[in-house]
Amino acid sequence: MASSTALSCLAALLLLAAAAAPASAAEETRLRVYWHDVVSGGPNARVVQVAQAPSSNASATGFGTVLVIDDPLTEGPNLTSRLLGRAQGMYISAGKDSLSLLMAMNFVFVDGAYNGSSIAIIGPNQADRAVREMPVVGGTGVFRFARGYCQLRTHWFDAKTGDATVEYKIHLRHD
Ligand SMILES: *[C@@H]1O[C@H](CO)[C@@H](O)[C@H](O)[C@H]1NC(C)=O
Ligand SMILES: *[C@@H]1O[C@H](CO)[C@@H](O)[C@H](O)[C@H]1NC(C)=O
Ligand SMILES: *[C@@H]1O[C@H](CO)[C@@H](O)[C@H](O)[C@H]1NC(C)=O
Repeated sequence: MASSTALSCLAALLLLAAAAAPASAAEETRLRVYWHDVVSGGPNARVVQVAQAPSSNASATGFGTVLVIDDPLTEGPNLTSRLLGRAQGMYISAGKDSLSLLMAMNFVFVDGAYNGSSIAIIGPNQADRAVREMPVVGGTGVFRFARGYCQLRTHWFDAKTGDATVEYKIHLRHD
């Protein structure tokens, strides 16, 4: 009797555990996009500086500068390659002694398999390093409940204009 009670308790616990388990195993997605910071081009620029430190607090790293972006995300490294989405958000020079950006962006997809979905990226970008890593903290559409990270490598940079192309390799787990 005692053991059958114990067994039914165990069965009830197992049922509870099963109910609490996620409905489906997390999906895994790896994708690569090229992020084009279009600083030059006057009215065609896709980056605007909206704030900077007062000149009395100027630093070599531009500490305190805030830029808002609506940068193209393309399939290939060339700006003319297929447009997959937009990187909308901002970056802030957050390092006083070293070049380190705080980036906060949504990658909003407008074409391809992820059209209508987005991912949210927030993290540090130590722009003078060859490889930088930032977390993906969430997503919408096919990327609901997304978590993951991206690795950034500068593909091209024009020191005169500030224009840059950066490869983003993104590794996600999501619903
Ligand atoms: C900014 O500059 C002012 C004036 O020189 C100075 O008093 C202040 O300490 C500076 N602030 C920082 C964070 O360096
Ligand atoms: C990008 O594509 C354009 C047009 O297809 C081409 O003229 C240009 O040379 C390409 N640029 C690079 C860096 O490959
Ligand atoms: C992306 O989705 C929108 C909304 O559903 C649609 O209007 C648009 O045509 C799609 N774009 C492409 C390139 O498929």
